[in-house]
Amino acid sequence: MPAKTNTKTILITGASSGIGQAIAIAFGQQGANVVINYYKDEDGANHTLQQVVEGGGRGLIHQADVGKEDEVEALFKKAISEFGSLDVLINNAGIQRDSAFSEMTLEQWDSVISTNLTGQFLCAREAIKHFRSKEHPGDHTGAIGNIIFISSVHDIIPWAGHVNYASAKGGILMLMKSLALEVAPQKIRVNGISPGAIATDINDEVWKDEQKKAELLKLIPYGRIGQPEDVGKLAVWLASDESDYITGTTIYIDGGMTLYPGFIDNG
Ligand code: BGC
Repeated sequence: MPAKTNTKTILITGASSGIGQAIAIAFGQQGANVVINYYKDEDGANHTLQQVVEGGGRGLIHQADVGKEDEVEALFKKAISEFGSLDVLINNAGIQRDSAFSEMTLEQWDSVISTNLTGQFLCAREAIKHFRSKEHPGDHTGAIGNIIFISSVHDIIPWAGHVNYASAKGGILMLMKSLALEVAPQKIRVNGISPGAIATDINDEVWKDEQKKAELLKLIPYGRIGQPEDVGKLAVWLASDESDYITGTTIYIDGGMTLYPGFIDNG
């Protein structure tokens, strides 16, 4: 684990449950100021805040739909006025609205693109505006800002019945890389974390059902479903100076799901 070095002020979208909540708690344990964004689950956000504070951090809760420009602007304004500055954005908020392709409604398509892709664009844009207003630190002193896009293995693994979700995640991959290229000269780092099957509410229908869980495990060579804390630890490291030379990269945290598991005894 990195030392408690550059863990300053972190804004995490969708931090009321699952991976976002675990990342918030992990940063709290580093003594960070954590801005906890949520959309609907106020109780979840309160639970996150409590855990952040218990871990030694400070926290602030702010409700916003990340797909709405004015709400995102208000979120960043609040975060920056409360803590004075912002160092890290964890672009995490994401939803699934699954459907067979021919039955997929425009609403199912639009809502997933809005939260999972447009939301990441809007939040990244506000973060970049803020980072660029900071003084350039010169050479060898670390980044002035850090953005981590929480994507999915489905930015490279096609997913039948989830075309809206996979399209948004595929979009995030090039959003992340193109942005990383654009802002690297300003000493802003931009990376992605792409989790595989992590046990959260988004997929509890699968991992809480023994038969479905057994089928899912066939896709995970490492033999276990991931825990949100696995991602929390990675996010802390990827946002720290310990990983200062990494930009424009995606780290797959998936127990080997992207290794073509069908080839373990085939081909
Ligand atoms: C999805 C989960 C799924 C996992 C692996 C994630 O991005 O949100 O529902 O279990 O990918 O397929």
